[in-house]
Amino acid sequence: MANKATDCFKLKNKNGVEITFTAQAGRLISILVPSASGKIDDVVIGYDTVAEALAGDVYFGAICGRYANRVSKGQFTLDGQDYQLEVNNGPNHLHGGSDGFNTRTWNVEPIKKEGVASAYKLTLVSADGDQKYPGELSVSVVYSLSDDNQFKIEYEAETSKPTIINLTCHPYFNLDGAGNGNILEHKLQLNADNYTPISPKLETCDGKIEKVAGTPMDFTSPKKLGEAVRSTADQIRLVDGLDHNFVIDNGGEKVILAAKLSSEKSGRTIEVYTDQPGIQIYTGNHFDSTSKGKQGRLIEKYGGVAMETQIFPNSPNVEAFPNATLRPGEVYKHTCIYKFVW
Ligand code: GAL
Repeated sequence: MANKATDCFKLKNKNGVEITFTAQAGRLISILVPSASGKIDDVVIGYDTVAEALAGDVYFGAICGRYANRVSKGQFTLDGQDYQLEVNNGPNHLHGGSDGFNTRTWNVEPIKKEGVASAYKLTLVSADGDQKYPGELSVSVVYSLSDDNQFKIEYEAETSKPTIINLTCHPYFNLDGAGNGNILEHKLQLNADNYTPISPKLETCDGKIEKVAGTPMDFTSPKKLGEAVRSTADQIRLVDGLDHNFVIDNGGEKVILAAKLSSEKSGRTIEVYTDQPGIQIYTGNHFDSTSKGKQGRLIEKYGGVAMETQIFPNSPNVEAFPNATLRPGEVYKHTCIYKFVW
């Protein structure tokens, strides 16, 4: 039976981690995690009720696609054919457009998976031409939670015609608990010596890959997010904080550690593991304390940080970036693990 948008599902483990998501967008509406002192907090920003979550920010906790992140001018060429996607973010296409996967109601079923405490499979068929992308795309996403506190997201997709694809998931974390201030004191460490700067002209990446050394993007050792966000460097001021894709060292093959986010205040850490080549770090630069979030508190600027594993922004238009093409007979695969430590 088809799911309703408001249907809710829970993943739980023996340590008190509890993750709730909706059929709509596979939206992670809460992730409860204990702290060292045993206090349970909800470490993703959002809303107090499902109704508010479905009416609120469309990307909070959502699965994004078909192409997460930006495609310059919404244009790409594949096998000699030009495609025009919706332009929904300045001059660019973002996260599949206004009718992206984050607006869809997924089919959700509980599954048995070895070695995990609980698991669900989410599926969706996106018709040929949906969001103006070619090919019928069949997508499955498995959410699972293990007793060693790993929340694993496993994406797979197949297409009936050559197409482009880049899926991601968009929770904004605040390790002190949603509504308890901003993330500027959180420390971030990235396994990334390089990043893909934003072209001020394109408002997305144009193919440049630059060293982080000597720039605010250097997170090769743990550093407070505030240090980067407050920098006067052009790349930071351009987007009023961090909204950048980092090139994971040795990324794009095996599942490896890409990022580590921690808060001294709560003693919680999240480790992010992935087989993707990139990770977008977005510090919630556009939140402006005008909408009410969890605990009835306003969603403030830098109130949470998204760590989106993916290929690079605008890859379909950059030869030297990872290939975004998926062809019939191939299987798109992507694993992202958020491991909670306290
Ligand atoms: C991020 C993107 C940000 C912003 C956000 C959604 O992935 O990099 O610029 O658009 O999604 O609000």
